[in-house]
Amino acid sequence: MANVRWGLLSTADINKDLIPAIRASERGALVAVASRSQEAATAYAKKWEIRTAFSSYQEMLDSNEVDAVYIGLPNHLHAEWTVKALQSGKHVLCEKPFALTVEEVDAMIAARNASGLVLAEAFMYRHHPQTKLAQQWIRDGRLGDVSLVRAVHCYKMSQRDGNIRLTPEFGGGSLWDVGVYPVSFVQMVMGGPPERVSAEQFIGETGVDEVFTGQLHYADDKLAQISSSFINPSHTLVEVFGTEGRLSLNRPFVRMDDGREMLFHGVDGSSKEVVVPETPLYLGEVEDMNAAILDGAPSFLALEESRNHVRTVVALYEAARTGTIVTL
Ligand SMILES: NC(=O)c1ccc[n+]([C@@H]2O[C@H](COP(=O)([O-])OP(=O)(O)OC[C@H]3O[C@@H](n4cnc5c(N)ncnc54)[C@H](OP(=O)(O)O)[C@@H]3O)[C@@H](O)[C@H]2O)c1
Repeated sequence: MANVRWGLLSTADINKDLIPAIRASERGALVAVASRSQEAATAYAKKWEIRTAFSSYQEMLDSNEVDAVYIGLPNHLHAEWTVKALQSGKHVLCEKPFALTVEEVDAMIAARNASGLVLAEAFMYRHHPQTKLAQQWIRDGRLGDVSLVRAVHCYKMSQRDGNIRLTPEFGGGSLWDVGVYPVSFVQMVMGGPPERVSAEQFIGETGVDEVFTGQLHYADDKLAQISSSFINPSHTLVEVFGTEGRLSLNRPFVRMDDGREMLFHGVDGSSKEVVVPETPLYLGEVEDMNAAILDGAPSFLALEESRNHVRTVVALYEAARTGTIVTL
């Protein structure tokens, strides 16, 4: 196989970010799209100049036209279609959140193990040079001992009617939607899941959390705070506090403005920009999949990490719902 033949499983809005990334990737080609209706698939294929339009997801999975599928379905369908795709012999890049329960993640990993195919979570920011540089600075000890991380992802939802994020049965809620980014970043810094969590949430008329905040307690008394929201102006931030300095990332989870949004604050009160080469945000996850499929390279984001993200989010929701400290 010289190139990975990609298929889009649904006509999701997020595809608009994946399509340029697949096309820009050196060894990937976009060949198909599937939708729940032939009409929608055909119209989408025409708009985006995609060769084949399938009238159902299963039809694409049964065909020999694609090697890998990108799953941008509502959250409650991630596990079901990931398992079906792997059982049909297709590699899978599945959107975040990977699934809504640890049991679902375990079923996805079991299907991956049984098939020997590639499965990865589409956490695009993890592949970006800024994230890797921050990780490197922390690993190199440039901040000293890290004892606290604060991470935020908020936005004001403009399109509320029919939005999958506001439907409880679809895995709606700000924590599942954007709070997973702070959870993921904190886990990357701390090297694993927390020992225990506490949390508070504001549940709107929609029945989902529209504001969420959680506290996470890690081994060696390292602490973190995460927040997410659907009702506040857009804001993303990560601050990593060490004994020798603080690293702040003003655009950790979204496209950077000019590559100068990461700052190091020293103990002497000085601040310095850490310049990051700008790279298309979604390209890294596609290149990583292509390399895993074509070269057998290990995926950059391990499935155990994805499992721990879900485990942590489930614990945070339980803590908010019960008003108790939840131990993992
Ligand atoms: N990584 C990122 O930057 C990022 C950004 C945005 C979203 N996401 C993730 O991507 C996923 C999709 O988000 P989105 O905003 O693109 O969603 P969306 O535009 O609402 O698309 C979801 C698609 O799922 C299909 N679908 C199947 N069953 C459905 C149902 N019962 N109700 C509604 N749609 C159904 C539909 O495609 P057909 O009609 O063609 O079958 C629909 O177009 C979510 O998991 C979200 O967390 C990730």
